Amino acid sequence: MPGVPVQIRLARDDDRLPLALLFAAVAEERDGIATEPPVDVEARAASWTLDGTFVAVAGAEIVGSLHLKRSRHGFGEVGMAVGREWRGRGVGSALLAAAIEWARERGLHKLSLGVFAHNEAAIGLYRKFGFIEEGRRVKHYRRASGELWDSIEMGLLL
Ligand SMILES: CC(C)(COP(=O)(O)OP(=O)(O)OC[C@H]1O[C@@H](n2cnc3c(N)ncnc32)[C@H](O)[C@@H]1OP(=O)(O)O)[C@@H](O)C(=O)NCCC(=O)NCCS
Repeated sequence: MPGVPVQIRLARDDDRLPLALLFAAVAEERDGIATEPPVDVEARAASWTLDGTFVAVAGAEIVGSLHLKRSRHGFGEVGMAVGREWRGRGVGSALLAAAIEWARERGLHKLSLGVFAHNEAAIGLYRKFGFIEEGRRVKHYRRASGELWDSIEMGLLL
């Protein structure tokens, strides 16, 4: 329930199912993340890469997650989502702050990500942390509706 304090920690094995359920719920919105329904929740849970995954926990509930995929070339790619009813309360900021600190500690020189061009909340969050827009991929993502959506590439030098 919004109002409960939120804590950020690295993900562990028993987070797999809640992580996949949150991902599936955000996919249902067909708006912020690239994946659209149907999501095979069990397969997603089993294949989730825990290394580099942060969870935001309120009480016993996972209300947000961020995955930082480390490349072999010094940069890390960020993907994240916060449960709908928890948005606008600083959860995304707390996740991103933790990930930036973790990346710096591990010597990464840069974080990068792609975001749908209409996703003002996400772009606002990334700008707040100093990410800059590096380019636009035009009509890059074909959606289930047939629409072709642009994405913005953003980067943060650490
Ligand atoms: C993008 C997302 C992770 C942001 O998480 P959040 O917990 O709502 O973010 P915060 O509450 O920490 O907000 C941080 C900043 O984001 C921006 N922001 C958040 N919601 C916003 C909105 N609705 N409109 C414009 N800017 C917004 C603001 O700059 C805000 O800073 P402020 O509170 O100082 O004004 C969340 O909206 C989400 O999960 N969306 C669906 C999935 C998604 O789009 N993931 C990202 C894919 S690239």
